[in-house]
Amino acid sequence: MNLDQVRYVDDAITSRHSVRAFLDKAVEVQTIKDILHVSCRAPSGTNTQPWKVYVVTGKKRDKMIERVCKVQNEIFRQPELAEQYQETFAYYPEKWISPFIERRRENGWGLYGLLNIQKGDKEKMARQHLRNYELFDAPVALYFTVNKGMGIGAKMDISMMLQNVMVAAKARGLDTCPQAAWNHFHQVVLDELDAPEDEELVCTIALGYADPNDIINTFITPRLAVEEFTVFLDA
Ligand SMILES: Cc1cc2nc3c(=O)[nH]c(=O)nc-3n(C[C@H](O)[C@H](O)[C@H](O)COP(=O)(O)O)c2cc1C
Repeated sequence: MNLDQVRYVDDAITSRHSVRAFLDKAVEVQTIKDILHVSCRAPSGTNTQPWKVYVVTGKKRDKMIERVCKVQNEIFRQPELAEQYQETFAYYPEKWISPFIERRRENGWGLYGLLNIQKGDKEKMARQHLRNYELFDAPVALYFTVNKGMGIGAKMDISMMLQNVMVAAKARGLDTCPQAAWNHFHQVVLDELDAPEDEELVCTIALGYADPNDIINTFITPRLAVEEFTVFLDA
């Protein structure tokens, strides 16, 4: 690779960020195929390639959004209903510890601050949370599932595929938001996808063209310096 090519790769990686407002502009099916074709070069343990992807657009997308938003709105009115909608695996810890809880809070309040959502404003928070299930208006949903018989490593493999998809999309002028939020509603999602019984929802990606005028897309998250998370050993 020459220096220019290195820069292109670095730019695709570093310019990716989670976009939470999309334009009403369709994505070519061929572009989605190209992204998936490139992305499935992701490594996987013993080349098991455990990912399965559902590309959902058009009326199917609208139906999915309608069904999941309905449930989420019911939960907002009757919080005890949330118990019926548990994730199949815990993405987040049951008990948060430092320094992760502080980073999580900084992220949440940073986003809410930008949107002028104050602490305790439950209506506005719920409205913003619901945006997840509206796909932030993205025209394409990518639902990634795995066979339930596979081990935890298969979820690592799928994570590598997910990152490839987001970077390959970015390189084509598209943006994404990875979403664990949908995992709570896996029963509804898998039912609407008509997925076989042995499949588990791992992650969703909202895909489309970013709305450059929506303030939410100006939210750029910080990172630690390399020295803060790396130990160099040489002897
Ligand atoms: C597996 C995974 C699940 C995520 N789920 C959500 C989600 O449900 N909703 C959301 O708005 N952002 C979600 N995010 C986005 C993160 O909040 C975001 O990646 C993080 O704050 C870093 O910001 P950046 O992606 O803009 O660099 C998720 C990210 C990952 C990796």
